[in-house]
Amino acid sequence: TSAKSLEGKTVLITAGPTYEAIDPVRFIGNHSSGKMGFSLAEEASKRGAKVILISGPSSQTTDDKNIELHKVTSAREMLNKVFEFYDRVDIGIASAAVADYAPKEVAKEKIKKNDDSLTIELVKNPDILKTMGEKKTHQFLVGFALETQNEEENAKGKLEKKNLDMIVLNSLRDEGAGFKNDTNKIKIFTRTEKKEFNLKSKDEVAADILDFVEAQLLG
Ligand code: C5P
Repeated sequence: TSAKSLEGKTVLITAGPTYEAIDPVRFIGNHSSGKMGFSLAEEASKRGAKVILISGPSSQTTDDKNIELHKVTSAREMLNKVFEFYDRVDIGIASAAVADYAPKEVAKEKIKKNDDSLTIELVKNPDILKTMGEKKTHQFLVGFALETQNEEENAKGKLEKKNLDMIVLNSLRDEGAGFKNDTNKIKIFTRTEKKEFNLKSKDEVAADILDFVEAQLLG
């Protein structure tokens, strides 16, 4: 990779968890740290790309002035924000851990603990990446998969189902990989290729992912 290998490209990255409100003080969320997405954003910026980073609630920060950071809370907000920019995007990377379901109704007041049990009805959230895949014109789309069984088969299934160009499989079986850690161990799949990487820092993993994207684009 040369210094400015992504010059002239616009890269959109989703990162972090989403929070789905239950009432004014509570939400359904997950442990995603946003680290992988922020590392990808900084690496893409270093390579000269214009970077749009759309992040759910995360304690990650960046002082890179070339990264346009948009903070959102829920999956629906993330979807809307993505499609404000989508037409202009060359490379889309979905590293966000989007909540699959959200409460059907958000209680206006704090829910009181009056009853012995409480039922919250959940409805499916939009699949942001799948929607990006459906609306794909020229964008190169990269997804992530975190699987606990039939890892490779499921990852390749998602590549097809979401109309992606590339998918990054995080292994949960490996010590230090996935979600909250500073390190990650990945496998990359395209329709025709497979590459396995060693356990590395998320910054190094970000560089591996972008090297792979660039190689695909040069094709
Ligand atoms: O289907 P699954 O959630 O395993 O797919 C993971 C990939 O899809 C990730 O790239 C994730 O960012 C993306 N995704 C999304 N919107 C959702 C669910 C997943 O963009 N609602």
